Amino acid sequence: DWNPGNVIAEQVERIRAQIGSGKVICGLSGGVDSAVAAALVHKAVGDQLVCVFVDHGLLRQDERRQVEEDYVAATGVRLITVDAREQFLNALAGVSDPETKRKIIGREFIRTFEKAQADLIAESLEDDGDPIAFLVQGTLYPDVVESGGGTGTANIKSHHNVGGLPDDLTFELVEPLRTLFKDEVRAIGRELGLPEVIVGRQPFPGPGLGIRIVGEVTAERLDLLRKADAIARFELTAAGLDNEIWQCPVVLLADVRSVGVQGDGRTYGHPIVLRPVSSEDAMTADWTRLPYDVLAKISNRITNEVDGVNRVVLDVTSKPPGTIEWE
Ligand code: XMP
Repeated sequence: DWNPGNVIAEQVERIRAQIGSGKVICGLSGGVDSAVAAALVHKAVGDQLVCVFVDHGLLRQDERRQVEEDYVAATGVRLITVDAREQFLNALAGVSDPETKRKIIGREFIRTFEKAQADLIAESLEDDGDPIAFLVQGTLYPDVVESGGGTGTANIKSHHNVGGLPDDLTFELVEPLRTLFKDEVRAIGRELGLPEVIVGRQPFPGPGLGIRIVGEVTAERLDLLRKADAIARFELTAAGLDNEIWQCPVVLLADVRSVGVQGDGRTYGHPIVLRPVSSEDAMTADWTRLPYDVLAKISNRITNEVDGVNRVVLDVTSKPPGTIEWE
């Protein structure tokens, strides 16, 4: 029967056989899949692995620290963080349309990651003439089925002004999670001693808080949303509700203002939306009936502690017709 220890031992053998003495790179997202995939590869080949984490400024409170400190302490991986916060903010300036935001974030992300990759390859070539030739991906079994089962290689174009690289680089993919489901990946992560904040993390979209601000993304709005989101997450966890909700997007309606009365006077602030959902697979979802006292606590804390917010509203729409995210 299934046992995380056996899967780890088996995968470590396979990874060693595949990579040999080669060099390997892995992008970390802060999510569970890439974290577990990288930890397995590190267990197999140690410092032949280098990990790259892009801080696009759309992360939640504490996520960068969790990767840079907690994850690194637990695994010992070699990690490079690329601080791309300004680059993403500049690229998103003036943009409100959800699809345009997604495209910009995706494009900037690939650019940033490929630039880091190209730099690291150049560095590895300089080192001993042996370039990084393997790329770790946290592909799970459902992704394999959905995409028709193909695997093998990935190309990156070296249009990044790094001297001495061939025009097209081909990586061999390392995909140690290809036979696994999400709950199995979590079990393996726990067995490997990864931080619970990463292993137990609820789904969070790649474009991050960028698609939870309805309106233009700015540094101030991101700060505000990060505070509100951290309060909601803290109180949901404190109430022991993490296992009842699939995820709870917290959304800032940046283009909406309403009148409030706070302290000595009237305010004209923004609403925050709570979107707690229950789901099996995110294809359909129901809004979670959270206890009123927990909702009250979250609402009080957000309106008291987050400047610029004077109203908290609850989204009571299932999927369909509403998507889980607002954008
Ligand atoms: P929707 O909003 O379509 O979301 O009901 C379904 C699930 O997918 C997540 N989501 C994303 N995940 N990149 C991701 O990695 C994305 O662009 C993205 N958009 C939505 C969402 O959080 C939910 O779990």
